[in-house]
This record gives sequence, structure tokens and C-alpha cells, in this order.
Amino acid sequence: MDRIGIITSGGDAPGMNAAIRAVVRAAIGRGVTVVGFHHGYEGVIKNEATVLDSKSVGGIITFGGTILRTARSKEFMEKSGREKAIEVLHQNGCQGMVVIGGDGSLTGALRLHDEFEFPLMGVPGSIDNDISGTDFSIGFDTAVNTALDAIDRVRDTAYSHERVFVIEVMGRRNGFIALEAALAGGAEAVLIPEIPYSLLEICDQLRASADKGKRSSIIVVAEGAAKAGEIKDFIQKNTGFEARNLVLGHMQRGGSPTAFDRVLALRLGAFATNRLISGFKGEMVGVDGSKLVSHPLSYVLSTERAVDPEKLLLAEVMAQ
Ligand code: F6P
Repeated sequence: MDRIGIITSGGDAPGMNAAIRAVVRAAIGRGVTVVGFHHGYEGVIKNEATVLDSKSVGGIITFGGTILRTARSKEFMEKSGREKAIEVLHQNGCQGMVVIGGDGSLTGALRLHDEFEFPLMGVPGSIDNDISGTDFSIGFDTAVNTALDAIDRVRDTAYSHERVFVIEVMGRRNGFIALEAALAGGAEAVLIPEIPYSLLEICDQLRASADKGKRSSIIVVAEGAAKAGEIKDFIQKNTGFEARNLVLGHMQRGGSPTAFDRVLALRLGAFATNRLISGFKGEMVGVDGSKLVSHPLSYVLSTERAVDPEKLLLAEVMAQ
């Protein structure tokens, strides 16, 4: 193998640039040229190719987003789109490709692998941390810290005005960002899609806290569980407490990656590249504790990532 492709695909995540840098420099170290395609699979189909040398990835480790840009491609969903993508990869002399992205992007990689036996290596990049086969995906830690910063700031005003604040965080169908940010921010309650909740019970809990002298509370809600505005209205109506809501939205996807995400991205990017060049394919790399691991994409995509019950219990006990 002397030439490989690389894309970032799906939602951007802080640390993707660090991963691109790692892939390029690890490949160059083994005498392999890296072709970057802009705009994910869409850019492969449209042949938006550019050779990435060591200098082209210099200074990007501190940036959020992705220098390769990203997209969600409709054309790639069709077999004809994937055939075009393979044709373009061959035209560019690519004998393999590293795909950095979330579950949708990795599903695309598995399709290319299954349908054309094209060598692919996945790197988990998503703020949602909803991908099996790795303890962490690139961008999660930064997103949690961004959400935490917002929670800390809102707590100041919640305290001063004696209000209940409902803060909605991202995470698509999962509550990993919500749970982690709620624990770190000392939230009084957290609502996630994985666990049923009762708003009436939460109102009782808020009243009980008020009886004990607590005048303000923070409730973190995952976007997949409920809308912050609706929760705020319900609480206000049922308790009479003054409440406000805040949707953090895409700010959680931006910003300079944390040290954790940068190092994770460097390790995963280099590991994926080395495995691909060594002949492994159809896998996604990840971390298990501090160890680097790699699993078949078919396993990763057919396994649900579960919420840690110990963390859930901890959130409940701490909210008392
Ligand atoms: O998957 C990352 C993510 O930010 C989710 O948390 C969120 O639901 C979704 O992407 C938002 O997608 P878009 O940027 O297309 O609005």
C-alpha cells in the first residue's frame, strides 16, 4: 500500500483535525501518501481530492471543526453513488481509506467494505460518544467541557435569581453528554432518553429541595429525551417556581479540543493508519481504558452502547 485516502464525515467534532494530522504524519512515516477528500463521501464522489503533505497539517491541532470540511451525502446512500466513490478512489490510486466520523459515516465505511472489499479503517469522531467498541469518541470530552462551562455560568444566575434552569444538550438519541455534564456540573436532575423519568417526581423533588432551603436548581436534559422549553413550562406550571430554559445547540460542536481529545485523536489516527497500512481492514479503532483496540465495523455497528448504571446511580444520590 503506497497511497491512502482520508475523509471526515457527518457532524464535525473537536479533535478531528488532530486525527487528520496523525493519519497524515503516521502514513508519511511509513512512506505512504495521503489523499484528502473534502466534504466526506460527497467529496469522494465528486473527486474533491488533494494530496496532504506533512506541512499541510501543521498548526491544525488546536482548531475545532475539520480542515477537510464535512457533509452528509444523499448520493452515497445509493449503490450507484458508492460505485462512483470506489471509481474515484481507484482513479486517485488509493488502496485504502481512513474514515473519521460517527455511526452514519462508519456505516458508509462498512458498506464500501462489504460491497467492494475496499480496505477501510474507521476512527470514531462524534461529540455524542454513542459508538460501541470504544470508551470515548473524539470530540466528546470537549463537548462535555463546553456544556459544563455553560452550566457553571448559568448556575451563577440561577442562584442569584433563585430560579430553576433547564439546560438542553446535544447527543442525538443518547444521553452520554447529558449525564457526564450533569455529574460534573452538580445538576439537581438529568433527563436522558435511555431511562424513563417522571416530571411529577422531579417537581416533587424540587419542592422538597425548596423546603430544605435550596432556592435554585439546574436540570440537564438530553435533546433526545425532551425539549427544554416544554420541561420548563411544566415545572413552572406545577411548582410555581420561576424557571428558564436554555438550548446549547451547535456551540457544543465547536471550539479548540481539550488535551484529552487531542491525544485521543492522535493515538487513534496513528493506530488506524498503521493497521490499514499493515493490511487490516473493515475495522474501527478505539480505546478500552488506556489501551488501543480495534474491532470489526460489523460488530461496532450492531452493538448498542449502554449508559453506565453506576454513573446514573451516582447522579441520583448526588442530587439528594
Ligand atoms: O451527531 C452529532 C450531533 O451534533 C448530534 O448531537 C445532533 O443531534 C446532530 O449532530 C445535529 O446535526 P446537525 O448539525 O445536522 O443539525
